[in-house]
Amino acid sequence: MVETTFHGITLATEPGAVFTPRPATEQLVDAALGAIGAGPLRIADVGTGTGAIAVAIAAARPLVEVWASDRSADAVRVARLNAERNGVGARVHVVQGHLLDPLPGAFDLIVANLPYLPESVHRDEYDDEPPEAVYAPGDGLGYYRTLLGACEAGKLVIPGGKVVLQLHREVLEADCWQLKALRKKLDELRRRAA
Ligand SMILES: C[S@@+](CC[C@H](N)C(=O)[O-])C[C@H]1O[C@@H](n2cnc3c(N)ncnc32)[C@H](O)[C@@H]1O
Repeated sequence: MVETTFHGITLATEPGAVFTPRPATEQLVDAALGAIGAGPLRIADVGTGTGAIAVAIAAARPLVEVWASDRSADAVRVARLNAERNGVGARVHVVQGHLLDPLPGAFDLIVANLPYLPESVHRDEYDDEPPEAVYAPGDGLGYYRTLLGACEAGKLVIPGGKVVLQLHREVLEADCWQLKALRKKLDELRRRAA
């Protein structure tokens, strides 16, 4: 277990077992905080890893409640530890499972930094990370498409809710009525990165 700093908080991580949060993801947290007010809200962080995004948002907004999911048991364990250590364990609920499956109900805001690199590519910079935290099947966008499909179907985000995602160090934001445009933007970025 080693420690890293993210968005002004200290997080435990386990190199090789749990994805170490990157500075670029602090912009996602800033975008999420800019998208919400100070009131009570329900937020979902899909693919939480160390819990970096979930814990940083909960630490900055005392009234929000965050549900954070990850399919990795190691990530769930470390994210729970980080939530406790940062004093937000009562408001950050870390659950294990595939994407949105373990998440209860619909949310005001969905945030996600999920694997998006196709398995056919290799990036040396991620050699120390668990491959399933970095690479995704097919063209790499399948997890985000599933997530946006659920949002479009009204299963994950409430009417008036928002989505903030990270892809290739870019932060992409959309209101729930802009999700089709967000899908297009994802495809466009994928084509540019190919
Ligand atoms: C790129 S890491 C990002 C972790 C964290 N969100 C961050 O920004 O530091 C992606 C995370 O998604 C998780 N993940 C991968 N596939 C998943 C799936 N199908 N369902 C839920 N989580 C998944 C991985 O275990 C990993 O923790």
